[in-house]
Amino acid sequence: MAKVRFLAHGTSWEVEVPVGTSVLQASKQIHAPEGDACGGVCACSTCHVYVTRGKELLSEAEEDEEDILDKAFDVRLSSRLGCQAKIERDGEIECEISRESLDAFYNEHPQVPDPRKKR
Ligand code: FES
Repeated sequence: MAKVRFLAHGTSWEVEVPVGTSVLQASKQIHAPEGDACGGVCACSTCHVYVTRGKELLSEAEEDEEDILDKAFDVRLSSRLGCQAKIERDGEIECEISRESLDAFYNEHPQVPDPRKKR
């Protein structure tokens, strides 16, 4: 099993998942606010995360993913598309959810209050 921790706006979510699970699937299990506008088929960049720990435990990015990331916002060396990054080995993984992913999630889920917005 791999332990995956998601970080966003000062909150963290943690889940244990078997090898073969994608980062996006892991986030969905614990309702971490990661967007998925295209439904996880590598056609948007709303599942964009920064893998701050355990990048080596994930599948390599393929060309399709690199092409989409070229059009994403604030891309860093640690950037991955959560739907394409599959966990290949046990260990600890930490992902910071990108701003574009958070924006997409809270737009898609208006019933979930966005803690970044002041009331
Ligand atoms: Fe659209 Fe990952 S959910 S590329």
